[in-house]
Amino acid sequence: SIIVPSVQEMVKEKIITTVPSRYVRSDQDKTDVVDDSGRLSTEIPIIDMKRLCSSTAMDSEVEKLDFACKEWGFFQLVNHGIDPDFLDKTKSEIHDFFNLPMEEKKKFWQQPNEIEGFGQAFVVSEEQKLDWADLFFHTVKPVEIRRPHLVPKLPLPFRDTLETYSTEVQSIAKILIAKMAKALEIRPEEMEKLFDDVDSAQSMRMNYYPPCPQPDQVIGVTPHSDSVGLTILMQVNEVEGLQIKKDGKWVPVKPLPNSFIVNIGDVLEIITNGTYRSIEHRGVVNAEKERLSIATFHNPGMYKEVGPAKSLVERQKVAKFRRLTMKEYMDGLFSRTLDGKAYLDALR
Ligand code: SIN
Ligand code: FE2
Repeated sequence: SIIVPSVQEMVKEKIITTVPSRYVRSDQDKTDVVDDSGRLSTEIPIIDMKRLCSSTAMDSEVEKLDFACKEWGFFQLVNHGIDPDFLDKTKSEIHDFFNLPMEEKKKFWQQPNEIEGFGQAFVVSEEQKLDWADLFFHTVKPVEIRRPHLVPKLPLPFRDTLETYSTEVQSIAKILIAKMAKALEIRPEEMEKLFDDVDSAQSMRMNYYPPCPQPDQVIGVTPHSDSVGLTILMQVNEVEGLQIKKDGKWVPVKPLPNSFIVNIGDVLEIITNGTYRSIEHRGVVNAEKERLSIATFHNPGMYKEVGPAKSLVERQKVAKFRRLTMKEYMDGLFSRTLDGKAYLDALR
């Protein structure tokens, strides 16, 4: 793999008026973005976690969840129960982390053939265009495969904060996945076996998008669908940039205060036999403000076999994807560049 420069550092070092060619995306998707007055942005479903877990309101909220996952593949989650002060602290420490001196950050930079640490994802050649962003990607679970030079070496209190954040988000993911199984009448054991506490996987990606003098020439995150089970995303500052593809248009997501953005990944699309949709999305940047986000990914363990849930296929009569282990799935994934939903289509 290729070691990529820091975009944050590049912007900090000198005033850039034109974007270096490696970041210019003539291949950019020119599909229309719905304008601010467009209805779609305000229609992104909102799911209330408290209602989802209440004895009286649960059924109607599960129905809403089901609709959101089928029609949008995305929703905002409110009333999630995580202390807002703790989330504020997490956000401010993420911000500080990206603002560490480069000397410090270098210790965490991606090594050849590694995907963890600071850098970019899915870079396979020197010619490949790059995103206008720095990210920090790391494994949270299973703990045994954590890279010794990353999380264990993170400064305190950030290390502890991230640990708590991961645990809290993990428990939300678990509840959401169980409610999805309920909505789809997938046998609960079938889903629990895939996302069990012992060997389910969790990883995390913190994103930093510097301001860009030519925001229309670059992309913060290449259009993609998430190649995982479930993603729980938090905006770290109030700057928007996430857009999701809906009915052939890019729809900007307008995050609610104290909410998470949750989306179905390819692996859940497979497990739900295509009933829940892993939606293409991208990140755009702007000329004035930096943008930060943190995504937490939830996956079945590496040696689990995934495929359309058997209890679902019994009813739907046809399995739309082939079965494979998560290891086979991941090996296939990392040998490619990011290209919309092409990988998922290859597993049909
Ligand atoms: C991503 O989907 O990979 C990043 C999303 C974001 O930064 O909002
Ligand atoms: Fe994503």
